[in-house]
Amino acid sequence: MTLFTSPVSWPESWPSPQQLLESAREAQRASYSPYSGFPVGAALLVEGMDEPILACNVENSSYGLSICAERSAAVAMIARGGKKPLAAAVVGKRGEVCLPCGACRQFLAEFNPEMPLVFEHGDSFVVTTLAELFPAPFLLTEQSGEQ
Ligand code: THU
Repeated sequence: MTLFTSPVSWPESWPSPQQLLESAREAQRASYSPYSGFPVGAALLVEGMDEPILACNVENSSYGLSICAERSAAVAMIARGGKKPLAAAVVGKRGEVCLPCGACRQFLAEFNPEMPLVFEHGDSFVVTTLAELFPAPFLLTEQSGEQ
């Protein structure tokens, strides 16, 4: 079955999709998800940064305040001076595609609406783009993320 159809360019200079997924797995270990029992990890490859930004979902007793791993990662990227995520890996249940929720798609699109995304899929992985999952984000600026 073809899950995604958009062509994805993944430059050789980048860590491999498998390596970025490994980073997301490492990030997942820190997850605080006692209410859902669904730990998520995200790794962002960021322009100008040697190491990926790692983040996890963080839940709260007031459930609605919980934040997803992908948004945590975007926040961490900005806090550390990063500007542009080049690619993201997201992991949830082992071997299953863990798609970002709608809020996270919009949040990530702010910084790079075209970025490649990689997910586990069985023993392997699948790659798509944020543009395929979320083709029409709301953006106030032509060049998102620029001030
Ligand atoms: N979650 C993420 O971290 N990322 C997503 O894209 C979907 C959902 C988290 C939120 C919550 O802590 C748990 O997964 C179950 O919904």
